[in-house]
Amino acid sequence: MMYFLQGDIMNVAVLISGRGSNLNAILEAERNNKISKAQIKLVISNNSKAEGLKFAKEYDKKIICLESNNFKSKEAYDKELAQIIKSFNIDLIVLAGFMRILSPSFIKHFENKIINVHPSLLPAFPGLNAQKQALECGVKITGCTVHFVNEKVDEGPIILQKTVDVKEDDTEFSLSNKILEKEHEILPLAIKLISENRVNIHKNKVRTV
Ligand code: GAR
Repeated sequence: MMYFLQGDIMNVAVLISGRGSNLNAILEAERNNKISKAQIKLVISNNSKAEGLKFAKEYDKKIICLESNNFKSKEAYDKELAQIIKSFNIDLIVLAGFMRILSPSFIKHFENKIINVHPSLLPAFPGLNAQKQALECGVKITGCTVHFVNEKVDEGPIILQKTVDVKEDDTEFSLSNKILEKEHEILPLAIKLISENRVNIHKNKVRTV
């Protein structure tokens, strides 16, 4: 499958919940012309107090806060989210530390148009506290993954991964920081590759050209 874009420039929405360092890395890459075929049109947060919104402001991006307590159900929330995304002609939805599980109908609606960054080498350590899981398991290598989102949590075709060595004196904090540095490399790179139509999905696997 070739990735389908509506125009020459891929319109991107970045969804965050907290600190927003991955959002910052994407915005920096955009400013430095590293992802010239993509434009960050919109930043959405499910938390109006998310620290990362400061980056969206700094780069003068459109911000929409959608707090879940204003909605009766998950479906109602996701329906509104989908409406907003459609109204901005978004081609790619980037989950950059967005700590909400999207409903299957939302994911189906935007099939192969949602990517996520996760702080482990998936399929190892899905879910919360991936870095802590890695330390507890005693792995010597961990890392991060950017993948397309399917209906299962932290699954879906893997686009890019980077590894990080786990040292004996690593703490959850030190390991998270080392992984985060790599996340900041592969998330903008994945956006770049998709925007240049260089990402194909074949039999649930990604091939990059
Ligand atoms: C990142 O480490 C990201 O991989 C993780 O949340 C952090 C967000 O940091 N996401 C997940 O664990 C999703 N399963 P940031 O807000 O500084 O970008």
